Amino acid sequence: MSAPPNFDIDPLAFKQDPYPALAQMRSQAPVCFVPQLNATLLTKRDDIFTCEKNIDIFSSQQPGGLMTVLMGENMMRKDGEAHLTERKQMFPSVSPRTVRDHWKAAFKGSALEILDGLAKHDEIDLCTQYAMPLSGHALRVITGLTNLTAAQMDFASQGMIDGVGNYGGDAQIEARCHEATTLIDNTIDELLPQVSDNADLGMLSVLTQSGQSLESVRANIKLAISGGQNEPRDAIAGTIHALLNNPDQLAMIGSGEATWLQAFEEYARWMSPIGMSPRRIASPFTWRGVELEEDSRAFLMFGSANRDEDIFDDPDTFDITRDTSKAISFGAGPHFCAGAAASRTLIAEVALPMIFERFPNMQLAGNVVYDGWAFRGPASVPVRL
Ligand code: HEM
Repeated sequence: MSAPPNFDIDPLAFKQDPYPALAQMRSQAPVCFVPQLNATLLTKRDDIFTCEKNIDIFSSQQPGGLMTVLMGENMMRKDGEAHLTERKQMFPSVSPRTVRDHWKAAFKGSALEILDGLAKHDEIDLCTQYAMPLSGHALRVITGLTNLTAAQMDFASQGMIDGVGNYGGDAQIEARCHEATTLIDNTIDELLPQVSDNADLGMLSVLTQSGQSLESVRANIKLAISGGQNEPRDAIAGTIHALLNNPDQLAMIGSGEATWLQAFEEYARWMSPIGMSPRRIASPFTWRGVELEEDSRAFLMFGSANRDEDIFDDPDTFDITRDTSKAISFGAGPHFCAGAAASRTLIAEVALPMIFERFPNMQLAGNVVYDGWAFRGPASVPVRL
């Protein structure tokens, strides 16, 4: 038994493209300590799949962590019963049935309106002009914060994500994060009298009616916004980009040989919108002969798991016909994404089919650059409609 081997990264290169370093880690040191991140990384798919469920060791409780400090203690930072109770309380607003019977029609309405607006343009940026507003409108409906605009939703989400990753303590980033959380708190305060009179399936109403404390309601809505805007936004723009880059695969969807859902699931495997989830080691633990110290930080690297060559053939290639059932893009334990059903419907049943139906001759109109390792997506996807 020994301490995890060190693996140095160049933080800038890792942010631009983490996949080469992650491949080296998987082959040379699948459980390694990265000094630049001050964390031990688990990079193999089966290790993460097993360890994530062992919540006595891989605890989500991180009381001093940036997310808890800046956004309040949400369910993603709780274990066991405390986590499960809040997750069940949220379920009615994100269940597959609610998504099918209530949210899907709203998602379609928003997509139609945005596509109508785009029809007068020759060239657009898919990220800011389609994926961002569509994702924002969907989240307004799901959270029940309907008095926010889609742009405010995007600002709030980005502000919190940047704040939670602000390990360097940049004052401007922290200030923007406070602005984002204040915006959400004020919006909740404005809406509270309404939701106590008129119950609906929006998260604010559902959580309030469930008896959850207002402090936890605020924290969980912030969680849904920080985790529910960027990922569908990046996945919508990224999947369209990947399909335009692979016209043979797009044609397979047109001919019924493959589906939009396969395209989305493969994108989420290939370019995981959430690349990692952090845990605190609750007691000393040995895995693969490597000792993990109590109270040290471990990162479950979903993005690496999804490119594990022991699981996926030719893992760096985007191929919508592959079996993605072992991908863990939405997690692999009790914290499995609560918004998975909403995301699949929004992206595979609404966003992708509707834009390709409306603009069947859409073509890429410039370079697309991906960025990020904890959250990853394209910065812009210019297309000619
Ligand atoms: C492409 C879209 C999305 C992806 C790839 C994604 C991915 C993830 C991942 C990897 C986790 C952590 C799982 C873990 O630690 O095991 C997570 C958790 C979570 N996500 Fe998502 N997510 C997406 C969209 C959404 C949306 C739209 C919402 C809200 C409507 C949402 C709400 C949540 C919540 C509340 C949690 C915490 C669950 C818990 O602690 O039990 N996500 N998501």
